[in-house]
Amino acid sequence: MTAAIWFQATLLLCGVLFNAVGSFVGINIGTDVSNLPSAVEIVAILRAHSISHVRLFNADARMLNALSNTGIEVMISVTNEEVTTIGESPSAAADWINKNVAAYVPTTNITAIAVGSEVLTSLPNASAVIVPAMNYLNKALVASNLNYLVKVSTPHSMGIISRPFPPSTATFNATWNSTIYQILQFLKNTNSFYMLNAYPYYEYVKSNGIFPLEYALFKPLPSVKQIVDPNTLFHYSSMFDALVDATYNSIAALNFSGIPIVVTETGWPWSGGANEPDATAENAETYNKNLIRRVANDSGPPSQPAIPINTYIYELFNEDKRVGPESGRNWGVLFTNGTAVYDIKLSTSESLDANSSAVFCIARSGADETSLQDGLNWACGPGQANCGPIQQGQPCYIPNTLQNHASYAYNDYYQKMRSSGGTCDFGGTATTTTVDPSYGSCRFTGSLNSSTGEGLFPPPVFGPVGPPSGCSQNFVHLGTVFALFAALILSGMDVEHFVALW
Ligand SMILES: *[C@@H]1O[C@H](CO)[C@@H](O)[C@H](O)[C@H]1NC(C)=O
Ligand SMILES: *[C@@H]1O[C@H](CO)[C@@H](O)[C@H](O)[C@H]1NC(C)=O
Ligand SMILES: *[C@@H]1O[C@H](CO)[C@@H](O)[C@H](O)[C@H]1NC(C)=O
Ligand SMILES: *[C@@H]1O[C@H](CO)[C@@H](O)[C@H](O)[C@H]1NC(C)=O
Ligand SMILES: *[C@@H]1O[C@H](CO)[C@@H](O)[C@H](O)[C@H]1NC(C)=O
Ligand SMILES: *[C@@H]1O[C@H](CO)[C@@H](O)[C@H](O)[C@H]1NC(C)=O
Ligand SMILES: *[C@@H]1O[C@H](CO)[C@@H](O)[C@H](O)[C@H]1NC(C)=O
Ligand SMILES: *[C@@H]1O[C@H](CO)[C@@H](O)[C@H](O)[C@H]1NC(C)=O
Ligand SMILES: *[C@@H]1O[C@H](CO)[C@@H](O)[C@H](O)[C@H]1NC(C)=O
Repeated sequence: MTAAIWFQATLLLCGVLFNAVGSFVGINIGTDVSNLPSAVEIVAILRAHSISHVRLFNADARMLNALSNTGIEVMISVTNEEVTTIGESPSAAADWINKNVAAYVPTTNITAIAVGSEVLTSLPNASAVIVPAMNYLNKALVASNLNYLVKVSTPHSMGIISRPFPPSTATFNATWNSTIYQILQFLKNTNSFYMLNAYPYYEYVKSNGIFPLEYALFKPLPSVKQIVDPNTLFHYSSMFDALVDATYNSIAALNFSGIPIVVTETGWPWSGGANEPDATAENAETYNKNLIRRVANDSGPPSQPAIPINTYIYELFNEDKRVGPESGRNWGVLFTNGTAVYDIKLSTSESLDANSSAVFCIARSGADETSLQDGLNWACGPGQANCGPIQQGQPCYIPNTLQNHASYAYNDYYQKMRSSGGTCDFGGTATTTTVDPSYGSCRFTGSLNSSTGEGLFPPPVFGPVGPPSGCSQNFVHLGTVFALFAALILSGMDVEHFVALW
């Protein structure tokens, strides 16, 4: 049957709301990038986007140094090349911990070690050493009294689960039962967590149209296409939730409970080859925005509603040096100059330093560029902010973005003028935060929260008049999205039939 279905979804993209505590969205930093910025520049970019959690695929000394005193939480990795050595030698494990963890904590906030990457599926002959490697590393942490700060785990692909749909009947592929059993026992005993790489993009592409694209992109599904698990009757509003639940159920099938899942990788490529039509900037933007909103709501998947799904987006920059399909080189959310590939707010700022008494004034993420430029011009001109540090060659020049430069200027103005009634507004392009935006040698002066800057004075209109915020702009150009599904097997199919396809 050939049918065309017009599907309408309204995207409300006005900023991403983050809870002060609870779930977080972090980012993976792959380094197969030509023109990779220096570690200090990368950290400046992270700070400028208020990113609170990062995962590194190694334990690069320059990155770990640059991340010191930033408050950013860091997951480091034992590479697949290192797993075998560490799994065969407790002293190699101890050396690794001394060199890559003990030397940096607590100034660099390393909180987790990912041992290898998808070892069971990508390096099967290291499967025998993965559990010893994790044990030896944890013993070395215990010996250094760091095991309470740093958790050890290993990221798995969805490939170790034979049939993830429907989630209620998912189990690990029995080939790996004994290894997985030991891994789960280790995670349980050490209060660690399960690391899951979950890619609705690949599951969607593999499914050959069985699943609607909306489902992979967290878009609302029409009532005839609801995805329901026939055993539990749980409604799955996104494939992401279903993949996480498939993993919780696989864990439960081995009789383990109380091991939280953290999604160590997920994302969507924004460009691909001729045979990769779903790798588009529009889909990538939709996926990552909806993902962030989904995680930020703090709820778990249907089977574990109380466990938030902390998640690391894959990935910061395009890894243009990777071999393989075109889409594999286009997962980045930022360009190496720090600007966003598509309109996205990665900020998790409120989750950092929420208790700090200092208040800073920064450019609002997603603010309209023209208004930001007006605000910056005003602050550096009539506002008399000190804009020296954002000039080329000065400490706050990089990342060379309007967002960063405006933040510096706004804050400088605000700190000087606050006591005499200056506000953090700038035509709605500014916002206050208790997160210190300083990075490297770029220092933002902070004001103490002792007196109430707002409220004592009727708010005088400081700063240029502009549109209220970038949000309204976003609504206009992203307001309504239409997607065409041709030759869709699903059209006209009722829930039972759809479920039966699982
Ligand atoms: C490191 O991160 C943990 C978890 O968010 C937090 O509790 C701790 O205060 C942080 N430590 C430092 C030194 O920032
Ligand atoms: C895995 O096995 C292959 C073939 O037996 C061998 O060449 C390779 O060195 C092994 N790799 C590891 C990490 O042990
Ligand atoms: C389980 O994994 C093995 C080894 O990779 C593979 O040959 C087999 O097809 C898998 N079974 C299922 C049901 O996916
Ligand atoms: C593997 O574990 C599953 C439960 O997840 C169980 O049903 C199956 O019998 C086990 N297989 C083997 C070979 O132990
Ligand atoms: C899980 O526990 C149930 C009930 O105690 C038992 O029947 C089953 O064999 C256990 N499964 C595994 C994989 O240990
Ligand atoms: C949070 O997300 C879940 C799953 O998508 C949804 O069922 C729930 O209604 C959401 N809660 C809020 C408060 O938005
Ligand atoms: C950043 O880099 C991208 C991609 O190379 C480019 O399109 C964009 O104009 C650059 N932005 C700035 C502010 O240099
Ligand atoms: C904030 O600081 C107060 C006093 O130092 C402390 O009691 C409280 O637990 C802190 N709250 C958070 C969320 O860290
Ligand atoms: C800081 O300011 C916020 C709101 O502006 C207020 O809720 C909080 O009580 C203040 N904290 C202190 C320590 O004055």
